[in-house]
Amino acid sequence: MNAPADIAKVIASPADATHGYKAFKLGSFNFRRDEYFAHITWNTRDGRPLSHTLDIGNFLRALMRDVAWGFFYGGVNFDHVFGTTNHYQTVDMYAGTFNATMKAAGVDLLENFPTEQIAATFASMLDDWTNETFDPFAAPQETGSPYGRKNGNNTPKITRARELAKRCVGLKDDLALRTDARGTLVNRAFADVPQDQPELHPEAGFENEVHAFNLFAFLSRSQVTWNPSFTSVVKFSFMCPTTEEHILPIIHANDRVEWFFQMCDEIHWDCADKTTGRPLARVIMKAGDMAAMPAYCRHQGYSPKRSMLLVWENGSPNLVYEIQKGDAPEVPVKF
Ligand code: PHB
Ligand code: FE
Repeated sequence: MNAPADIAKVIASPADATHGYKAFKLGSFNFRRDEYFAHITWNTRDGRPLSHTLDIGNFLRALMRDVAWGFFYGGVNFDHVFGTTNHYQTVDMYAGTFNATMKAAGVDLLENFPTEQIAATFASMLDDWTNETFDPFAAPQETGSPYGRKNGNNTPKITRARELAKRCVGLKDDLALRTDARGTLVNRAFADVPQDQPELHPEAGFENEVHAFNLFAFLSRSQVTWNPSFTSVVKFSFMCPTTEEHILPIIHANDRVEWFFQMCDEIHWDCADKTTGRPLARVIMKAGDMAAMPAYCRHQGYSPKRSMLLVWENGSPNLVYEIQKGDAPEVPVKF
């Protein structure tokens, strides 16, 4: 067995003499970037070389989420070819596995890695390939360009701490409210969102138990897009609201049911079968709408204006295995 230091070893080439980026290797997959694209190459199961190309901005936005979310729940598809599946101690990385056409043609490849190995490679690639002009978490109108030759790094923006409340935002020793003083200013799209806070009158001795805060005000001050934070946690019930603008940079393949509550404005969702990619539904969600995404689907959202979305997750570590065994349902309700 490898020692832990070896598991997290990153295999990278020296910087390219012309554009300045390193190339990376993980298992049988090779990754390189140039001024506009990420290129992924691998050998098909019968030994033929195959390549796949993604726009570098799209690739880095997806890579940012996969790294920051520790490979998330279930599948993170960067596009219709490449992605990862979280097994919570190990991670599958694949090309073509969940694309019915590539699968049928036998040109897909899936390899499994210890989480710390793929995490280390992905984090190094994200850092080397993100220029100082580009913030992969920002809305396209709020950041510079991902393109061009290597031009510095943006390490502070790609290593933001994930905002995870232990019980609830604003409680003692928990995630703090967002304020001007902390540098979390109200976003341009949410200038009309009231910033007042609810009055709290707990009985003496219950000050740390009775609590409320203005969630709209909290979200109006989010600096990032498509990045759920935990605002309240009750056992495995995680309230994960987020502000959205432009396109969810990944196509999320669920391994459990997930609920969406559209808190303002609107998001249009494409939903498909998570194994084949066969389209299943368009879901147009307007302010006040709720939807549940079944465990068998993949989905990607389009938010024409910055909007507020509450994602509700069941974070139980056993749920994915209960669903696999048929002990828990893939849908929230049967009619
Ligand atoms: C999702 O895949 O369900 C998801 C991810 C990030 C978001 C919103 C939804 O910001
Ligand atoms: Fe999802």
